[in-house]
Amino acid sequence: MEDAMIKRIGLLTSGGDCQALNATMRGVVKGLSNSVENLEVYGFDDGYKGLIYGKYRMLTAKDFSGILTQGGTILGTSRQPFKLMRVPDEKGLDKVEAMKQTYYKLCLDCLVILGGNGTQKTANLLREEGLNIIHLPKTIDNDLCGTDHCPGFGSAAKYIGTTFAELERDCHVYATKAVTIVEVMGRDAGWLTAASCLARANGAKGPDFIYLCEVPFSIDTFLKDVKAKLEKQDAVIIAVSEGVKNKDGRYISEEVQSSAVDSFGHSYIAGAAKVLEDAVRNEIGCKVRSIELNLMQRCAAHLASATDIQESRMLGKTACQYALEGATGMMAAVIRTSDKPYATEFKALPVCDIANAIKSVPADYINDAGNDVTEKMVDYLTPLIQGEMNTVSRLAFAGRPQGNRVD
Ligand code: F6P
Repeated sequence: MEDAMIKRIGLLTSGGDCQALNATMRGVVKGLSNSVENLEVYGFDDGYKGLIYGKYRMLTAKDFSGILTQGGTILGTSRQPFKLMRVPDEKGLDKVEAMKQTYYKLCLDCLVILGGNGTQKTANLLREEGLNIIHLPKTIDNDLCGTDHCPGFGSAAKYIGTTFAELERDCHVYATKAVTIVEVMGRDAGWLTAASCLARANGAKGPDFIYLCEVPFSIDTFLKDVKAKLEKQDAVIIAVSEGVKNKDGRYISEEVQSSAVDSFGHSYIAGAAKVLEDAVRNEIGCKVRSIELNLMQRCAAHLASATDIQESRMLGKTACQYALEGATGMMAAVIRTSDKPYATEFKALPVCDIANAIKSVPADYINDAGNDVTEKMVDYLTPLIQGEMNTVSRLAFAGRPQGNRVD
């Protein structure tokens, strides 16, 4: 392809962390460098903050070397709530104007933005303001519309499935009645919690119950489920989305509030699993433990899915192709063309069509009782966690190079 008008791009990552951010950026820059001579890449620090306050640096090939399996993002990130984008900051700075000024000052031809829902909305706003933007999806929540799945999700799903398989081994060592409740991230969609079913891949029983935030949650029904299961077996393992809500739309974690307050004086709201732990202790009275997987599920580079990392890199490459062809206001999306064998293609979709929606788990991926997933979910998830990366985050012994050793 002829050199298009792209000579100088800006790059930023925004929102929560996940695997594959660095891999995606590497794909973008590698792809463009192959086609554009003397490409200039400006990396903005800490997401939109860097664009607003003019914090950036010129990146070279060296910055992108060896980062394929490195967790986090070499640029840093931040959360800049979309609803506050039009509100001047404490010094009266108009943030949207400030972002435009930085873009024009650097004479950028295109701004490549990696992020989830909130990021996408701001990216769309910048498009409306006349900037050339290309959006790349990412989020462990996997809740972006238009794309079959998001970079970062497959790796987090692999961590969740593996962790549940390992927990099962642990929980069944005692012949004692005990309940283990594991809270998984995902405020608005239960995709990642559903990935706990992958524990069943190698013959494990998997969680006894999986509660997703798509299904209104009742503590009474939950207790009935658990009691009935305890009559049949000793250990009961449960996966629950952090975002489960009751039928009135209130987070379960809000149902029980402690009197403790945080440093701002706001009431402390317990996590969903903690609330359920208390309910089991009070109503059933057996041994019970809650586990919040917290940041481990998104920073577990040692368990990154090769499919996720390689696909994200290719998605980045494809996105730069769109930029070279002069596309703007587009999101690079993964389209699945077949489950078995797994096959995908990439497509550019207008970001304005997808920026304001959440992709929930479809009803036919959830069982009728609302406490487990169906085979459709297993078929959807299985290809996304395939393959291992020889990641830099696995510790090497005595400075030996890492690699597979078969003794
Ligand atoms: O980016 C999505 C996410 O990982 C959610 O699953 C989670 O609720 C949230 O971010 C946590 O965000 P933070 O790290 O900013 O507390």
